[in-house]
Amino acid sequence: MNPNVSSVPLLPLPPLVGLCTFEHAARPGLSVEDCVKRLKRFHYSLWRLHQICLAHLATEPLYELKMAFSHHGFLAAENDTNLRTRVGEMREPPLGLEKIPHPAMAVFFDEILGTPSTQERVLGLYEKAFPALRDAMLRYISESHPLADAPSIRLCKLALVDIEGICDYGAQVVEALIRPEQRAQSAQWLGLLEICLAAAGGLDGSQKMTEGTEPQRYYSSKPFVYDGTPVRDSRFPDPYNMGVNAEAFLYDESQPPDAKVLMMLYKRLREIDVPEMMSSIIAETSGKPWGYYRDMTRQLWDEARHAMMGETGFVSLGLDWSHLVMVNSTWSRSLNTQLSPKERHAVLYFIEQGLMPKTGKRHEWEVSRESGNPLATTLQDFDWADEVLHARIGRDWYVADMPSASEAIAYGDRCWSGVMVDWSSWKANGLTEHRNWWPDLYTAWCQSRGVAPDPKVLAFDTNYSTMRADLKDVGA
Ligand SMILES: [Fe+2]
Ligand SMILES: [Fe+2]
Repeated sequence: MNPNVSSVPLLPLPPLVGLCTFEHAARPGLSVEDCVKRLKRFHYSLWRLHQICLAHLATEPLYELKMAFSHHGFLAAENDTNLRTRVGEMREPPLGLEKIPHPAMAVFFDEILGTPSTQERVLGLYEKAFPALRDAMLRYISESHPLADAPSIRLCKLALVDIEGICDYGAQVVEALIRPEQRAQSAQWLGLLEICLAAAGGLDGSQKMTEGTEPQRYYSSKPFVYDGTPVRDSRFPDPYNMGVNAEAFLYDESQPPDAKVLMMLYKRLREIDVPEMMSSIIAETSGKPWGYYRDMTRQLWDEARHAMMGETGFVSLGLDWSHLVMVNSTWSRSLNTQLSPKERHAVLYFIEQGLMPKTGKRHEWEVSRESGNPLATTLQDFDWADEVLHARIGRDWYVADMPSASEAIAYGDRCWSGVMVDWSSWKANGLTEHRNWWPDLYTAWCQSRGVAPDPKVLAFDTNYSTMRADLKDVGA
């Protein structure tokens, strides 16, 4: 820069709206073509990370990891949405967003998708993929022109807030889950992931690509087969238990609001089954516009949050939900194994429509307020707001595909009625006793507050043998 010629501000304001100094801005940056190449690799990486998180959400037993996959899948989808849009702003039609940027990148993500072990997936995601993406984005920010390419740099910075959070969390997962023996056992496979990255010139292609070392597929030499059968960890000891009909209790006007709040916490925690179910819709539906996957993933993450809101409620009351509450997985199990993705979506929409009228989400919020429980009131307030968004997502992506709004509802009802919820044979086969765990939970709660149980609440004993969650008769 010529030191004699400078842009002198009238008042001492930072130059270039604070993006950078003139000295920095005077250096050339990457070309549009190079930027697009890197941004497309970021897009591809986030797209695949989203897919991997969701593909293993149902079968991942560990509750915290199931929730983390919901969150990280959502964050990947949100940031991918931004980058897809940005690529479209950079002289890039046709966008070619479906293209694999480098064959070794496909092998890299296929391997993390295809490994049969949670430990290796955790290592692949949190020790290889997300950190590589973080480093590549930091490199992008330092190499692209801070003024000319400010829109992309902003999106990378936004993405980094999420990705650095994922890397920090992921490091703790690795610390908790990975023993030295596991690392030794997986050394060769982890080496393969490194070979893939090197062959691709790094995740962003900015490094020299190693030639003549075509990565040899290991797990991904066979095509990945999706499995939507939900698996849970040991804190869910009675997964077929349908012994407590929460809705029957909530809609009983003679039951008191404070006990209803306790039942609502169970309903919230039980929502762990919605991300399990929705991930199967997303994993098994191809060919939709990206907006479909983005919106569905947003809803999936909301439902995971609802489950954790229930968990938070129990923790706030000092109650150990894993011993007191039998959170079943019958709904996601039945839907994922018996219905097509579209039928599952129909059931979801039908149920959520039922949540909007008077006995639904507003009612749950009002009950929380009446009970004088401020935490439950906050949680139900947002649960209700989320549900309004979900109704919109349902209209955009399910109803819009149906002949009419009324047929959309009727079809959802028919699909749900057709699901075999085999209450008695599960019992006969010894899968569950359908034990009524409600009196134990209610008693523990009363004890913790030093109050005597209300005999009417204690006596509640309605299960799901003849009545489904919308209080209709169980179908065929
Ligand atoms: Fe929900
Ligand atoms: Fe919902």
